[in-house]
Amino acid sequence: MAEKEERIDTPSAASSSVKTTDDKKAMDGKMEKIISLCKRRGFVYPASEIYGGFANAFDFGPLGAQLKKNIKDIWWNKFVVGEENIVGLDSAIIQNPKTWEASGHLKSFSDPLVECKKCHTRFRQDEIEKSEILNPKSKTNPNDQIFKCPKGGQHEFTEARQFNLMFKTFIGVTEDSASVAYLRPETAQGIFLNFKNIIQSNRIKTPFGVAQIGKAFRNEITPGNFIFRTREFEQLEIEFFVEPNKGESEKWYRYWIEKVEEYYKELGIKSENLSIREHDKKELSHYSCGTSDIEYKFPFGTSELGGIAQRTDFDLREHQKKSGQDLQYFDPSTSSGQVPGKKYLPYVVEPSLGVDRAMLAILCDAYDESDGSDGRAAGEITLRLNAKVAPIKVAVFPLVKKEELPEIGQKIAKELRENGIETFYDESGSVGRRYRRQDEIGTPFCITVDFDSLKDQTVTLRDRDSMKQERVSIESITRVISSKLT
Ligand code: GAP
Repeated sequence: MAEKEERIDTPSAASSSVKTTDDKKAMDGKMEKIISLCKRRGFVYPASEIYGGFANAFDFGPLGAQLKKNIKDIWWNKFVVGEENIVGLDSAIIQNPKTWEASGHLKSFSDPLVECKKCHTRFRQDEIEKSEILNPKSKTNPNDQIFKCPKGGQHEFTEARQFNLMFKTFIGVTEDSASVAYLRPETAQGIFLNFKNIIQSNRIKTPFGVAQIGKAFRNEITPGNFIFRTREFEQLEIEFFVEPNKGESEKWYRYWIEKVEEYYKELGIKSENLSIREHDKKELSHYSCGTSDIEYKFPFGTSELGGIAQRTDFDLREHQKKSGQDLQYFDPSTSSGQVPGKKYLPYVVEPSLGVDRAMLAILCDAYDESDGSDGRAAGEITLRLNAKVAPIKVAVFPLVKKEELPEIGQKIAKELRENGIETFYDESGSVGRRYRRQDEIGTPFCITVDFDSLKDQTVTLRDRDSMKQERVSIESITRVISSKLT
């Protein structure tokens, strides 16, 4: 079951990240500050806020939308544009429901839940077990929400039953069983459904990959930790098709673990906060014979950012059986002269990552509050984003709103934008305040146009992290910024 792989709150994972009360407070405090910054500066808003919010859903504001786009573009450029043997796909979110019968999601994509007989609230069984393991006395502690029933006394739990995580909907005008369809819980299946189309329409040979970015939906019982676990999220998935044998699968599995780690480092995530955890047999999803998670040290505990799974030929075999279509790949390298080539169902290695979790890790890693010893005032926030992911790359300020300074500033900003560099023009408030506003959203460079600019055609270029300033000629500023960004 895919879900289990990513829980931070399974008993073993939870107990390994138990913190002292002070540590926990500091960590909760950091999350609160990040959430508040995200709202205040337009990275992430609670969804449907004017109606009181909605079910742990979030909207991504102007800076968040750009940051997410950068995360996705870097992935697409690295793996689809940058690799000869990986092609892209954009498949439908709602597919024929037979897809989920074949993939095993209708039968196996579920969490065991218990329900309180009095108030009818549902809980994940592993959460109850975790609470009992971590704090056996909490069962009698009326303050513990897991055990306290709003109808009075303690909850009285039913036996556990499986709860499917897929969102159901109806297609067309009737709401009967014949019109039931599902929102995809992973983007991967769209790739398997199109396997035949892709091998027929592209001259592509194993080993090769098909990559897709898109939304996935899961009716999570306990969403939480801000954008870490939500019901609607975005995935970055590659299904990488290899010759069907254990050796090849294992080789590419190791390869993808390294590549994914490399990608996270390219996003600017610090190596010391990344780790790899191989699943034990009990944890494996119904389709996997080997999975490793790339984990990140979040303030609320170490947890999954993405995973690499060996899916064998499980999905293609099941779709072949259900659809009656031949989904075998013909390997031209195995035919010679009179000898016909081999046909087979390839094995699949799947690197599957979440955009929202990558964004959260980036924000946690970059968040830096000054203690006053680094030339900034205590409490000032700098988001030390890698320039590649930063939503705004350059801010341009005229020192004052007079003489020709605003016109020169606007002209520089226009030229930068025309060169594809996200630029923000700001002429309000003191320059110090304008720097601070940009530091807080992670803008790596600021340009100030001052009175010297009128005399010698130069501007000040300030670096966010070192706070060092240099004079650069207006004529070369776009070139200088471009080279710093690459
Ligand atoms: N196709 C395999 C698959 O979907 P998964 O481990 O269930 O595997 C892959 O999900 C990634 O999708 C996770 O590593 C995580 O980054 C992201 N993800 C899964 N469920 C999520 C949720 N409820 N909220 C945010 N991201 C989620």
